[in-house]
Amino acid sequence: MGNITAAITGIHAWVPEYRLTNDELSTMMETSDEWITSRTGIKERRILKGEGLGTSDIGANAIKGLLEKMQLNVSEIDAIICATATPDVLFPSTACTIADKIDAKNAFCFDVMAACSGFLYALTTASKFIESGSHKKIIVVGADKMSSIIDYSDRTTCVLFGDGGGAVLLEPNTEGYGIKDALLCSDGAGRDFLKMDAGGSVKPASHATIDAKEHYLYQEGSTVFKHAIKNMADVSAEVLERNKLTGDDIAWLAPHQANKRIIDATAKRMGLSEDKVMLNIDRYGNTTNGTIPLCLWEYENKLQKGDNIILAAFGAGFTWGAIYLKWAY
Ligand code: UT7
Repeated sequence: MGNITAAITGIHAWVPEYRLTNDELSTMMETSDEWITSRTGIKERRILKGEGLGTSDIGANAIKGLLEKMQLNVSEIDAIICATATPDVLFPSTACTIADKIDAKNAFCFDVMAACSGFLYALTTASKFIESGSHKKIIVVGADKMSSIIDYSDRTTCVLFGDGGGAVLLEPNTEGYGIKDALLCSDGAGRDFLKMDAGGSVKPASHATIDAKEHYLYQEGSTVFKHAIKNMADVSAEVLERNKLTGDDIAWLAPHQANKRIIDATAKRMGLSEDKVMLNIDRYGNTTNGTIPLCLWEYENKLQKGDNIILAAFGAGFTWGAIYLKWAY
C-alpha cells in the first residue's frame, strides 16, 4: 500500500434561484451592464431570498445533493468542515447547524474562516485528517450568503458578490490521486483593505455601528486588486515550479472568481490557454467560499481521471493559496 493521499471523490453545489442581473442593479444605482461586465466579467449573481434562511441552508442543500448523488448514508460522514465568511451566527459554527439540518450524527464539525481563500484552507485542513489515516470520509463545504453583508447602495462592492456554495467528499487514495501539494499564505497587514468592522468583540453591534453601516463589507477595491493579481499568480506559478510542472502539464485551473481580469492574469502567468480555465463568474459573481466548488461542480463532466488541476484563491486577511491535485475519477 502506497502513501495515503486525500482525493475528492464527489462534488455537488447549490445556488438560490433568484438572479440579480446587471440590468436590475442599474435600476437601483448609477451603474451599467457595460461597466460591470468590462471591469469584472460579471453579468448576474444569485441571491438567497426568504426569511430565516442563511449560509447553512446553502451548505445543507449542497451536501444533501452530494450524499444523494453518491448514494451515501449521512451516518458514514466522519467530519464536516465549513468554509464561510458569512456564518449563520458567530457561534455555534455553521458546520454544526448544517450537520443538524442534514441529521449528521457521527461527524465532528467546525468552521474555517479565511475569507475568499477559505475553501482552500479547509480542503488542506481536511486532507491532513485523511492523510494521517485517522478519518475516512470528510465533507468540505464552502458557502456564503454574501447578500447578508452587502450594502446595496454601495455600487463599488454590491455589483461583485452573490450567494451560493458547494461541497466535496474527501476520501483516502493509495494510487497517487488527490491532493499532491498545497501552498497557503497570509499577510495580516492587508486586513484594513477588505473587512467588516462591527459585530465582533472589538465593536459589538450597537445603534452607532448600525448607523455607521459597519455591518457591511468594506473593500478598497484597487488595493485588493493589486495584491490579488500579484499573489494569486505568484502562488500558482510557485506550486507549478516546486512540482516541476509547466502550463502544458495542467488540464485545468479552478480559480477563485473575484474578477475576470485577476483570473486572466493568473492563467497567463501559468502559461495556460483560456480553454483550460474554469469560469462561471458571469453567472454567479463572487460567492467567496463558494466559487471554487461551484467551478468544479460545473466542470465535473469535463474532468478526467488523472487530470492535473490547480485551485487558486486570494481574499481578505490577506489570505491566498494554491492547491495542486490529480483528479481521482
Ligand atoms: O474576492 C476577494 C478579493 N476581491 C477582489 O479580488 C476584488 C478586487 N478589486 C476589483 O476587482 C476591482 O478593484 C473592482 C472591480 C472592485 C473595481 O474596479 P477598478 O477598475 O479598480 O475601479 P475603481 O475602483 O478604480 O473605480 C473606477 C471608477 C470610479 O470612478 P472615478 O473615481 O474614476 O470617477 C468609481 O467610482 O469607476 C467607478 N465605479 C463604478 N462605476 C459604475 C465603481 N463602481 C462602479 C459601478 N458602476 N458599479
